[in-house]
Amino acid sequence: MTQIEGLKDHFRDANPTIGIVLGSGLNNLLDSIDIQKKLSYTDIPDFPQSTVLGHQGEFVLGKVNDIQILAAKGRFHFYEGYGLDEVLSIVKVFYALGIKHVIITNAAGLMNPDHIPGDILLIRNCIDMTKQTEKMQPHTAVLTENERKAALKASKASGISLGEGVYVWTTGPSYETPAEIHYFRSLGGDLVGMSTMPEIMWAREHGMQVYPFSCATNWAAGIASQPLTHGEVNETAQRVKHDFTHYILTLCKYIGDA
Ligand code: HPA
Repeated sequence: MTQIEGLKDHFRDANPTIGIVLGSGLNNLLDSIDIQKKLSYTDIPDFPQSTVLGHQGEFVLGKVNDIQILAAKGRFHFYEGYGLDEVLSIVKVFYALGIKHVIITNAAGLMNPDHIPGDILLIRNCIDMTKQTEKMQPHTAVLTENERKAALKASKASGISLGEGVYVWTTGPSYETPAEIHYFRSLGGDLVGMSTMPEIMWAREHGMQVYPFSCATNWAAGIASQPLTHGEVNETAQRVKHDFTHYILTLCKYIGDA
């Protein structure tokens, strides 16, 4: 049995309509859904494994109201030594299972002073600073009007305000220098992070609707006076996780309705 056949067999009675990639600090979303089935990445042949200690990756199938979702806890990055195939493996699973809508979340550094750390921003376009995506179609980085409409409706319904911004994708693993952030800002970037952009593009290229969000966890390097720390990123993610989860669960209803 191939990897995909195995996955289809494991989830054979399932018919999820929404796939969710859970970024740093958003795993608590799983406490608010009715969990039906789990599958650890370690039980999928040839599937990449999370290299971050204590961060076991798994797929979780569950229900939000009457909408079936498949959440991916743990994702893969270039800075872990993975290539594009591995980085895309989660959205490829969503696609193989017939999922039509993908919500992607991440923690990101904030460059745009019109917002503050803790804000949630919808990613409306991206800048690739890695240049490691061969043959992707640039227009797929751009948010569509339908996607934006659903995201804004969910913002109104949930009472959680939503910004919008351009996400700059870097390979990491280090955070940026103040000079790099100055440069990214001058290019029109609002947020900076080490994930999400290739998943967005691949999923749209394969006909899925994509709703990509950043939790702005910290001022990007050089914008605030003190150097940024990983602790600050985690602290903000923890502080915002309830609002972010409430927002994402509300969005699921609007997508499900569409
Ligand atoms: N830079 C890059 N990635 C990040 C940051 C940052 O400031 N914050 C969270 N992820």
